[in-house]
Amino acid sequence: MATTFAHPMMPQTNHDEMALEAFLLSMRNHVLMEMDPLDQRLTNEYVAPRVAAAIGKQPTKSAEIRQELEAQPFHQTWLTVHRLYQDMLYGAIGESVDRQHASLDAARRAISKPQGSLTLDPDFEVPRYITAFDHHRMAGSYHTEYSPEDFRPGAIYDRYSSTYHYWRNGGWMNDGRGHTLASHIVSAYPDLKPTRILDMACAVGHSTIALKDDFPHAEVYAIDVAAPMLRYAHARAEYINRKVHFSQQNAERTNFPDGHFDLVVSAASLHETSLAAMRNIFRESHRLLRPGGVMAHLEVPARHEELGLWEQVRADFESHYNNEPFMAGVGRADWTKTAIDAGFAADDVQVGFRQYTPTMTKVEPKLAPKGSPDGRLAMGSWYICSAVRR
Ligand SMILES: C[S@@+](CC[C@H](N)C(=O)[O-])C[C@H]1O[C@@H](n2cnc3c(N)ncnc32)[C@H](O)[C@@H]1O
Repeated sequence: MATTFAHPMMPQTNHDEMALEAFLLSMRNHVLMEMDPLDQRLTNEYVAPRVAAAIGKQPTKSAEIRQELEAQPFHQTWLTVHRLYQDMLYGAIGESVDRQHASLDAARRAISKPQGSLTLDPDFEVPRYITAFDHHRMAGSYHTEYSPEDFRPGAIYDRYSSTYHYWRNGGWMNDGRGHTLASHIVSAYPDLKPTRILDMACAVGHSTIALKDDFPHAEVYAIDVAAPMLRYAHARAEYINRKVHFSQQNAERTNFPDGHFDLVVSAASLHETSLAAMRNIFRESHRLLRPGGVMAHLEVPARHEELGLWEQVRADFESHYNNEPFMAGVGRADWTKTAIDAGFAADDVQVGFRQYTPTMTKVEPKLAPKGSPDGRLAMGSWYICSAVRR
């Protein structure tokens, strides 16, 4: 288990906390390696044939088998254990953050001459698609403040998101998504030399920092709807010595002028908005780009049209049991059409998969039509829509 920490805002673990996290990660490993294959067999070898006999055709969509599968005791156990280790890990990290909340807060407040900035809006209205759910069962989601000027959700999210993925998205920096986006930009748009970049829905800035590193001469702006994430993101960026301007804004309609950016991106965020919001975010990206500027939105690669029956079940887990109600819809949406409806010309839009690229490297200019063989594995490939504004 990794024990080194990337920056002073990252909550540390003591011995007992580390032991508990290690146990929960082993439990997760057991589910992924031992229980997932059994649930897959249950789906394909028992449930699908029964449903086929009942409906007179081979089921191809998860919706056709859900009722029958959910009646199976093993599947119920599978669902329960998947949720259990995740809830316990949030609980464990939450307690660890609470133990050191005061010292982390002192570190945050000790920043006296920031190179970047933080602009919060006390009258900001957090959209209902955020306030209505505890996203991926993270209690209070991103926006809830438990104390004045709270940053707790940011601290929990920073530690949790790298731990939960076994540090496979760039270790404690968790910056693999950002580098994958940057790789796509330099490969598909080699002439674009961005001088002003906007990262929409930045959370604690994992991808933002990667973009700052990959385009060091660009001014980097990052927005999010959740004040606690932004407080933490700003302190984290200052401690790791990266200049970023954070502000609390809804990516559906920001206060930046028309044509202000060369590059507008988001990473793994659209599935936490809604289909209506996604359309607005594409339109806003178009408005914010100067002619020749590029939009690139990266998402979890669970595209239902390329998944087998059980892989669809696994992807649907997020929407049905993990408080990600819009994920399945975003995974089925026609992103090309959304980009065209937002004002981009059909010839200027690319949609497809990009292999996970942990450092900015030039790769194929075109996105691939297929994802990694295991379509549900986010760290194998990502799904991207990019487009140039004419
Ligand atoms: C999964 S996290 C994003 C991860 C981040 N982009 C990265 O790559 O590390 C989702 C974030 O989207 C934010 N968010 C959701 N809807 C938003 C919107 N309409 N405008 C801005 N931020 C939004 C949430 O507050 C949350 O912090």
